[in-house]
Amino acid sequence: MILVDSSLVERKDFGVDIEDRAYQFGDGVYEVIRVYGGKVFAMGQHLDRLWRSCAELRMPLPFGKDELAARFGELMKANQLSGDGIIYLQISRGVAPRVHQFPEETRPLLVAYTREVQRPLQAMENGGSVITAEDIRWLRCDIKSLNLLGNVLAKQAAVEKRAIEAILHRGDTVTEGSSSNFFIVKEGSVYTHPLSNLILGGITREIVVKLAEDLKLNLIQQAFTVDQAYGADEAFITSTISEVLPIISIDGRSIGSGAPGPVTRKLQRAFEELAGL
Ligand code: PDD
Repeated sequence: MILVDSSLVERKDFGVDIEDRAYQFGDGVYEVIRVYGGKVFAMGQHLDRLWRSCAELRMPLPFGKDELAARFGELMKANQLSGDGIIYLQISRGVAPRVHQFPEETRPLLVAYTREVQRPLQAMENGGSVITAEDIRWLRCDIKSLNLLGNVLAKQAAVEKRAIEAILHRGDTVTEGSSSNFFIVKEGSVYTHPLSNLILGGITREIVVKLAEDLKLNLIQQAFTVDQAYGADEAFITSTISEVLPIISIDGRSIGSGAPGPVTRKLQRAFEELAGL
């Protein structure tokens, strides 16, 4: 079943209207929320970010956070999602005759589904390789919008080079991954790009920043260059699906010892503990 506004419907019975603005313009927002053992993880933070994305795009929502959370519960129950998975949801500005500006008469359309997704345990244990790619996205990457072509092209470039992720840079400055945030460790300090219009404020990033604080690690939210990333002692990406995933090579150059490092391991363990994994 999928959730369409407030109703659970069979997936095959949901026809996307050709004039849905998400379909025509990418005019909408989305979230990917983790489910561990049938329980939603960090729901509040995802809903806060969803509301922020909608506010930035001037899309007022006709329901509240508690109401939406309750509907997700019904959706998971209907789909018997009792293991590890995700809830994907998107909200389109709605269906209206095609004009670029906001249509006068339209209402947001929410669609959500669940899917079983296993934790990427092997990659989390062994680490993964990434490439770098120019960040060609727009200048409001802080909004979790459905416009993902820049991300799609970067990820495809990575996959074609047998890498798990593309780390994006604007000029020399590293921003984030195509679907993750990026961190490096140098001489015991952890660095990641500060929150700004150039990156998505990842929920996992937010959690890791807090965990680093709890662990008394020196975490510095400051931009760094591609060369500094090449010269890092450790690197890792974070996302709802990847959690804390060690990066052991960038563009074919080994990072540190070429194996997941101790600071990354500490944060991985702290994340697992927090999520009850
Ligand atoms: N992507 N940066 C970008 C560009 C992302 O697309 C994502 C997540 C993140 C990490 O955010 P979070 O920790 O909240 O998942 C950072 C999701 C998972 C996706 O598009 O599938």
